[in-house]
Amino acid sequence: MSLAQTERAIPNDLEAYWLPFTPNRAFKAAPRLIARAKDMHYYTPDGRAVLDGTAGLWCTNAGHNRDPIVKAISAQAAELDYAPAFQFAHPKAFALASRIATLAPGDLDHVFFCNSGSEAVDTALKIALAYHHVRGEGSRTRLIGRERGYHGVGFGGISVGGIVTNRKFFGTLLAGVDHLPATYNREQQAFTKGEPDWGAHLADELERIVALHDASTIAAVIVEPMAGSTGVLPPPKGYLQRLRAICDKHRLLLIFDEVITGFGRLGHAFAAERYGVIPDLITFAKGITSGTVPMGGVIARAPIHEAFMRGPEHVVELFHGYTYSAHPLACAAALATLDLYRDEDLFARAKRLEPIWAEAAMSLKGLPHVLDIRTLGLTAGIDLAARPDAAGRRAYDAMVKAFHDENLVIRVTGDTIALTPPLIVTESEIADMFERVARVIRAVAQ
Ligand SMILES: Cc1ncc(COP(=O)(O)O)c(C=O)c1O
Repeated sequence: MSLAQTERAIPNDLEAYWLPFTPNRAFKAAPRLIARAKDMHYYTPDGRAVLDGTAGLWCTNAGHNRDPIVKAISAQAAELDYAPAFQFAHPKAFALASRIATLAPGDLDHVFFCNSGSEAVDTALKIALAYHHVRGEGSRTRLIGRERGYHGVGFGGISVGGIVTNRKFFGTLLAGVDHLPATYNREQQAFTKGEPDWGAHLADELERIVALHDASTIAAVIVEPMAGSTGVLPPPKGYLQRLRAICDKHRLLLIFDEVITGFGRLGHAFAAERYGVIPDLITFAKGITSGTVPMGGVIARAPIHEAFMRGPEHVVELFHGYTYSAHPLACAAALATLDLYRDEDLFARAKRLEPIWAEAAMSLKGLPHVLDIRTLGLTAGIDLAARPDAAGRRAYDAMVKAFHDENLVIRVTGDTIALTPPLIVTESEIADMFERVARVIRAVAQ
């Protein structure tokens, strides 16, 4: 069939599209379609306004379709669509890298760009391995992740990640990976606002792993400062500081995967700032462009970047990169997004709203089947009891009901509901959101 024919002959059929991380048959039987969006709301094709409780997939931190970002993207498309990312560059890539380096704490001052969180993670792992190699410690090849961690879907990311379903179908993964234990323990931590008191000692498990393999074989440790995709697990008080100290002792690189915690989600530009812990590498994505154009990246501390800047000057220092690294549209979107975050002081806004948000989330305590509620920054995880013999079904039903009956988008993982609204959310929208969630939880009580 010619292209001209396809335009006329093919109806708007749901069949061809294979949706990611979605039960396709159930979706196509009762689709949840979104046609446009503005600020805190989506609009369905028939015009229903749906409140966004999840900032897209934790990415539209500035809200949807914000005028300055839309204008910047369209102006950029008219000015420069693309310039080669290898051996050439365009001015906005430098401007953006400088802005990000200024936002990042300490000497995290060099930025490598890619197009997603998964690519950012694989890039960070590769930088860590190559860093030890160029310094003459090439035996440091092991990577340490954490149970229940999510680091995207590349082979590197699923290897260091700790979500069983994301790993078990995909063969042997990367060799030489170990995992720290997850930091969650319901008995010790249930219904905590913010960082739980219990659990810092779990960082000491890193000492056990080092003792088993010897530090000379370990390249890096990667964790999300707050585990997000597994259902919002805030770090125990002192845990990240302890990890940093153990990494320093054994000269392991510490990587913070800040793909969701970056750009205001926890009331700061980065979680590293909230916890006063400077990792060696930070991954970012999502909020950098407020979800408008795909972009990710890695921020490296000065000595790491410096270690690569040796050898003949005409030779590539890091054999890694993407056709769309620092894509002009993404850079334009990111610069406009950072301006908006600054002009509307959105990170401080998230911090100011945190106690109000936490209080509203905890109001769900006592509803049927609510086993735990956790909050941190503008995030909340609500664990529901699984239906007998149907793990994940209760929360799935809640998500479907929220969309169709309560005009609300929520995110679910297993039997956990996660809420992470755009940082422009108002106090009355927070109250409204939790009222809708309460009705949904009651509706799936059977
Ligand atoms: C911590 C973390 N890392 C990596 C990723 C992967 O990002 P992407 O879906 O853009 O590849 C995610 C996505 O949710 C994430 O939460």
